[in-house]
Amino acid sequence: MHSATELDLQRYYAQRAHEYERIYAKPERQADLASIKAWLPAQFDDRRVLEIACGTGYWTPHAAARSRSWLATDVNEEVLAIARTKALPHGRVQFQIGDAYALDHGREFDAAFAGFWWSHVPRQRAGDWLAGLHRCLTPGGRVVLLDNRYVHGSSTPISRTDAHGNTYQQRRLDDGSTHEVLKNFPDPNALRFFLGNRSFGFQWVEWDHFWACTYQVM
Ligand SMILES: C[S@@+](CC[C@H](N)C(=O)[O-])C[C@H]1O[C@@H](n2cnc3c(N)ncnc32)[C@H](O)[C@@H]1O
Repeated sequence: MHSATELDLQRYYAQRAHEYERIYAKPERQADLASIKAWLPAQFDDRRVLEIACGTGYWTPHAAARSRSWLATDVNEEVLAIARTKALPHGRVQFQIGDAYALDHGREFDAAFAGFWWSHVPRQRAGDWLAGLHRCLTPGGRVVLLDNRYVHGSSTPISRTDAHGNTYQQRRLDDGSTHEVLKNFPDPNALRFFLGNRSFGFQWVEWDHFWACTYQVM
């Protein structure tokens, strides 16, 4: 069962599908993006990977380069249609419709990747979401989360904070519509603590505009 905020998020990204990748053209982020593209492939060396909320598949060809197999999922067909047009590194990458909160894969994977998804998970849902993700992974499976740091002047300003501590932004699409989007910017120590009893080997990596964490599931 999805909250109104979660359904709004789904609809917002369906509507944004064709303008989404413009976010990756911001000049001040180019050096970081190149560095992340170089960093990602080794994270999934020879792994069977489940990607959550793959969107238009911007990261998929880079991240999947050295994987054994890759299943990229997203709840919106509008973004998957674009993802399916991407040039892929090998023939073992598949795209499939899938709800991040209703994963039903069994323990088929030994790694998972979620790009720019953690920031959209309401804080009160994070435990449930992680439990569902971890149920798809073999013991010791590796998780990589990649997301934005808040950078004044580059990030969309925070418009409000709710009672759970979730922060929100007001975003505008090309058709003139405005959308309130939940977007959290986690504190690394809080995230480390939160993941602590579900994981081992937590590592935090920072670029100027982005962060990533990697860990293994118990
Ligand atoms: C910020 S985009 C990230 C896309 C891609 N991972 C990237 O980094 O470019 C968030 C994605 O979450 C997807 N999404 C929203 N709600 C979802 C849900 N419940 N399950 C799976 N994907 C969802 C949206 O369709 C959108 O593609």
